[in-house]
Amino acid sequence: MRYNSIPFVCRYTAKKTMKRIIGSILFVILVASLITVTFTVNQVNQEEKSLQTDLQYRSTLVADSLRESVEPNFINKSNTYLQNVVERFATKERFAGLAIYDNKTATVAASAAIPPNDKQITTIVSEVMDADKANGDFVTLPSGKVYIFALPLHDTKSVVGALMVAQNASYIDSRLFAIWRNNVIRLFTQAFLLSLAVLMVLQWVIYEPVRALVFSLKAVRNSSSEPSERKLPNNPFLRPLAVEVENVRRSLSEANVRAQVEARLRLEKLDTPWTAERLSEFVKDIVKGRKIYTISNREPYIHTKENGITQYHVPASGLATAIEPMMHACGGTWIAHGSGSGDREVVDAHDRIRVPPDDPKYTLRRVWLTEKEENGYYYGFANEGLWPLCHIAHTRPMFRKEDWEAYKAVNGKFAEVVLSEIKDVHRPILFIQDYHFALLPRMVKRARPDATIGLFWHIPWPNWESFSVCPYRKELLDGMLGSDLLGFHTQLHCNNFVDTVGKELESLIDWQQFAVVRGGHMTTVKPFPISIAFTDTSVAARGEGYTLGKEFDVMKSMPHVAIGVDRLDYTKGILERLQAIDLFLETYPAYRTKTLFVQIAAPSRTKIKQYKEFEHEVDAAVSRINKKYQSGSWQPILFSKRLHTHEEIDALYRESDVCLVTSLHDGMNLVAKEYIASHRDEKGVLILSQFAGASRELRDALIVNPYNIAEVSDAIREGFEMLQSDQTRRMRKMRSLVKEYNVYRWSAEFLRSMIKLS
Ligand code: F6P
Repeated sequence: MRYNSIPFVCRYTAKKTMKRIIGSILFVILVASLITVTFTVNQVNQEEKSLQTDLQYRSTLVADSLRESVEPNFINKSNTYLQNVVERFATKERFAGLAIYDNKTATVAASAAIPPNDKQITTIVSEVMDADKANGDFVTLPSGKVYIFALPLHDTKSVVGALMVAQNASYIDSRLFAIWRNNVIRLFTQAFLLSLAVLMVLQWVIYEPVRALVFSLKAVRNSSSEPSERKLPNNPFLRPLAVEVENVRRSLSEANVRAQVEARLRLEKLDTPWTAERLSEFVKDIVKGRKIYTISNREPYIHTKENGITQYHVPASGLATAIEPMMHACGGTWIAHGSGSGDREVVDAHDRIRVPPDDPKYTLRRVWLTEKEENGYYYGFANEGLWPLCHIAHTRPMFRKEDWEAYKAVNGKFAEVVLSEIKDVHRPILFIQDYHFALLPRMVKRARPDATIGLFWHIPWPNWESFSVCPYRKELLDGMLGSDLLGFHTQLHCNNFVDTVGKELESLIDWQQFAVVRGGHMTTVKPFPISIAFTDTSVAARGEGYTLGKEFDVMKSMPHVAIGVDRLDYTKGILERLQAIDLFLETYPAYRTKTLFVQIAAPSRTKIKQYKEFEHEVDAAVSRINKKYQSGSWQPILFSKRLHTHEEIDALYRESDVCLVTSLHDGMNLVAKEYIASHRDEKGVLILSQFAGASRELRDALIVNPYNIAEVSDAIREGFEMLQSDQTRRMRKMRSLVKEYNVYRWSAEFLRSMIKLS
């Protein structure tokens, strides 16, 4: 019954639509007819009037000129002469006849066509003589319609007769009929063409575009993997509707993809808990002996040499934090820029070193860059160009030609190293990291099509309008599309990327699969929200017995402690956070002397002017606020500007009641997740920027707009005053979420997706 009713509904709707279309056409015809009839009536009236006036005028002229020769002969009773005159004139064009009457309306002389004793004529003639005034009227004689014009004839004293001129008037009716006929023909032609135009407009402007929209939705509903052939309407009239349908279509596609992923995950048992051991087993199982290579700019261990002593440290890098556990668990080779002053000293003849230095698990292959290369590629193009371009944090991107050249050259250099590393390796798996290597996937793929290449973009991808300012956008996009799998933190960034490609490059977009096909090669684009190495045991162990240095003693005595942990980067919203702290202390003075804000800041990219200036601004803001509220030995902000170890930071997190993550824009932000993971006691409150990717997952944080200083200030108070039970409820949820989707699972999902594509 249900199935039968669908065609019925369609038929019913089609019938109704047809009726409406016919109705619209009839309406158009009706309007056109009314216009034509009105104009024709008007035209006919005017034409009739003008022809009649013309006829009357000519009749008067003729009669007047005849009178001069008729009148004397009438008085002299020269009837033969009069009959001659009458007959001579009667043969002229348009004359229907002439007649001369005496004062009793008896015919004195008449042309042959004038019927004798015609009542209509004699009435006009007698009225003219009675009134002694020329007059005329239209009458119908057996020969047709004529205009009768009569004028009185006089002797010296009185009216003695009348002269009558009859003019042919039937041509007036013919003329008026012709006007009607022409206009009716024009009306039919117009009605036909208008109906055709209406049908064509309906077809082109409405029917076809609407059908395209319907098909595109239908394709998604049926989970068709074929990209829709039909172009979505681009006419301004249907544009808003098309945009809406496109959004719905995209949401449906995303929902489909998510549902498929979830279904697959269930089947493949990618459920929790994920640990280093499980990842290691899983990878062994799926890679089946294939070798894994990670490529990034930042190396996981940096060796420095000071005063003759070589040491190493782990950099303040979300990327390194996330990839290291995977390399730990799976082994393989990590190719990265050797940036430390002591790096060259510790590598072997092939520029390799086994790491972690204290407990080697995988190989680090260092790539050396000259200062010039580093300045152009890393500081210049990557961090003064792409970084602000992708973050949209109101710092203008700089695109210098020489930086771009260096970027291309360094990508080429890394490509050479990668190719030499995988020279004898069959079907290697390459996991390329971040915006430093947009060109690398294409370079490697061209030389080694058998390599499976994944690129993970750790920073946001902006909307097309923002990205389009980059002069090298097409080359960058093409380079990225050399990868088989392209990962971003969020679905929004995937959408922005695919949208950008659609607008910039010749390619086929498959919205169902979220893939781009270019030059016969397919790149699948997917969200992989990165995470941290959080398991039941991992973070619990890290930094648990760590004793914080004297610098942080004051934290212990403060009833309220908030913390911020960032690289000194203008995207992190540190200045806005300081403004919020200022406002908080201003608005809630009771908190003064009882509150401490710890700001951990790792200096970053200090060669770049904007970063130097930013550091000065932060220094100045901290000094200003500390000065403003200082009371005795108490200062509100403890600013620790140096590199801190993970253990130290974990210990600091544990001492803090509130953690402030106020990025102006951030791909993910792992500080948010690490703060949660460090709180085994399920206490603490996370204040999180709505513009950090993490806010999509950690809904139990206090989500704020970092540009809204008052909102952040109030969130700080809410955080300090939150009931223990509320804190626990929120923390518990967020902890289980981060634990469930930890970095081991992230790595497993990314690798598994790559392998499925190869
Ligand atoms: O998000 C991009 C990223 O690579 C992060 O992973 C990391 O925290 C940061 O940039 C480090 O930058 P850099 O390697 O330039 O110090």
